[in-house]
Amino acid sequence: MIRKSNQQRDLFESERSFRLLVEGVADYALYMLDPNGIITSWNIGGERIKGYSPQEILGQHFSRFYTETDRANGKPARALGIARDQGRYEEEGWRVRKDGTFFWASVVIDPIYEDGTLVGYAKITRDITERRNTQLKLEAMQRQLAESQKFDALGQLTGGVAHDFNNLLMIISGSLHVLKKGDPDDSRLQRAISAIETATKRGAALTGQLLSFARRQSVNPQAIHFGDRIEAIREVLHAGVGSAVRLAFDIEREVWPVRADVSEFETALLNLVINARDAMPDGGTVTIGAHNIILDDPLHSGEYVAIAVSDTGLGIPSDVVDKIFEPFFTTKPVGKGTGLGLSQVHGFAHQAGGTVKVASELGKGTTFTILLPRETAAAPSETSVTTPLRGSGTVLLVEDNPDVALVSIGLLEQLGYHVRRVADAEAALRELENNGVDFVFSDIVMPGKMDGLGLAHRLRQIHPDLPILLATGYSEVAAGVRGEFPILRKPYEIHELSEAISKLPR
Ligand SMILES: Nc1ncnc2c1ncn2[C@@H]1O[C@H](COP(=O)(O)OP(=O)(O)OP(=O)(O)O)[C@@H](O)[C@H]1O
Ligand SMILES: [Mg+2]
Repeated sequence: MIRKSNQQRDLFESERSFRLLVEGVADYALYMLDPNGIITSWNIGGERIKGYSPQEILGQHFSRFYTETDRANGKPARALGIARDQGRYEEEGWRVRKDGTFFWASVVIDPIYEDGTLVGYAKITRDITERRNTQLKLEAMQRQLAESQKFDALGQLTGGVAHDFNNLLMIISGSLHVLKKGDPDDSRLQRAISAIETATKRGAALTGQLLSFARRQSVNPQAIHFGDRIEAIREVLHAGVGSAVRLAFDIEREVWPVRADVSEFETALLNLVINARDAMPDGGTVTIGAHNIILDDPLHSGEYVAIAVSDTGLGIPSDVVDKIFEPFFTTKPVGKGTGLGLSQVHGFAHQAGGTVKVASELGKGTTFTILLPRETAAAPSETSVTTPLRGSGTVLLVEDNPDVALVSIGLLEQLGYHVRRVADAEAALRELENNGVDFVFSDIVMPGKMDGLGLAHRLRQIHPDLPILLATGYSEVAAGVRGEFPILRKPYEIHELSEAISKLPR
C-alpha cells in the first residue's frame, strides 16, 4: 500500500479543486489549446456557450468557432501569433455556435510556457451578446435624442419666424383685395398687384414648409387611406416627375390607415418625388411603395405603415447624407432648391408620431421611407349637416394683432358681414353679454389668460348654439383641437374664409 506524503496529498487536493473550479464555471468557456490550436480541454461553460460536448470538441481545431469570413482571412492563426508574440490576445467579435448561430464574444488568449517552451494556450470566452445589444440600443437612443434636440431648437426658430411671416402675408394678401378694387383700367397697377399676389402665394407655401418642419402645422389630423390619397394626387405626381421619368407603384393591397394632416401628407410625398426626379437628370424610375410592417426598435415599435419613395438616380454622398434634413440645406443651384423639402418631410413624419429613414447607394439610387403608426381609433363621425350661411349678419372678431384685424375686417365686410372686433377672449365674453352676434371668428394664439381654444370651449358651455370659427398661423394647440372646432389656416384667401364660414353649423 502506497502512502502519499502530506505534500503530495496537498498538491493533489489543490489540483483537484482547481480542475473542479475550471470545469464548473458555467459563464465562461475556459479551455486549453495545444501550440497548433487543437483543443485539449473543455469545461461546462464552453459547452453551454458554444453547444459542443467534450467528446465532440476535444481534438478539434479552435478555428471552427470563427465565422467563415474570419477563417478565410486567417484570423484564428493571427490571434495565436499575437498571443505568442505579445504575451496576450484580447478581442470582441462574432463567434459561431455549434448550431450555426452567431454570438458576440469577449475573447482572451494567453500563451502557456513550461520551462521556457510554449506548450499551448489558455482561452477564455464570454458570451456578451446581450450586453452589446443593450449598449447598441443605448447608443442609438442617445444619437436620436441628440438629433431630436437639435431639430427641436431649429424648429423653434423656424416656427417663430414663419409665424410672424404668416401674419405679414395675411396683411399683404388681404390688402391686395382692397387694392384690386381700385382703378381696374390701370394695367400697371394690375400687373403689380398680380406680382404681389404671386409672391404672397410663394411666401405662404414657404412658411407652410417651415411650419411643418417646426412641427406646428398639423392643423387637421385625420385618418388617411394611402390608396385614396395616391389616386387624388396621381395627376400632380405625374406632372411633378415629367416625361423622362417613369412613375411606378408598389402598394400593398390592404395598407393600414394612418393619422395625419392630408395636405401635409401630400406635400411630403410630392417633396420626395420631386427630389427623386432631380436625382435622375438622365431619366429613370421613381417607385412609390406602401407596406404594413411591425417595428421593434426602442423609439418606434408596433404596427406601422412604411411609405417608400425610391429612385434609380445619383445617390447621396456619405458626407452629405447627415445634413439633408436640415432646413435650407441644398446641393441644388440657386433658384432650384431652397432646402426645405426634406425638412418638411421630417417635420411631418415626426409630428404624425413616426419617423423618416434614408438608404442610398452612389450611382444606384436612393430610398426614403416614411414610417407612420397605424391609425387604430374609430373613424370620426361625419360633421353634422350644415346649411350655408348667407353673407349677412354680425360677426365677433377676436384678434390681438391690430393690422391683421384690419385686414380680416376688410375681408369679412367684403363678404357682406357686419364686424365687431375685440382684442382678447375676456373682452369677447364681455361683448357677448351685451350684444348678440351670429358667429364668432377667433384667432387661437392670443395673449391673456384665455386663448382662442379656451374661449371656444367656454362659449360651448354658455352659448351652445353659437357657431365658432378658429384661425391660426400655427399652433401646437391646434393639434389638440382634433376636429372639435373648424380651423382656418393663416394666411387665408377671401374664398377660403367664405367657404369656412359657409360650413359653420347654424
Ligand atoms: N432622392 C435623392 N437623391 C439624391 N439626393 C437627394 C435626394 N433627395 C434629397 N437629396 C439631397 O438632399 C438635399 C436636400 O433636399 P431637400 O428636398 O430638403 O431640398 P432641395 O430639394 O434641395 O430644395 P427644395 O426641396 O426646398 O426645393 C438636396 O439638395 C439633395 O442634395
Ligand atoms: Mg426637395
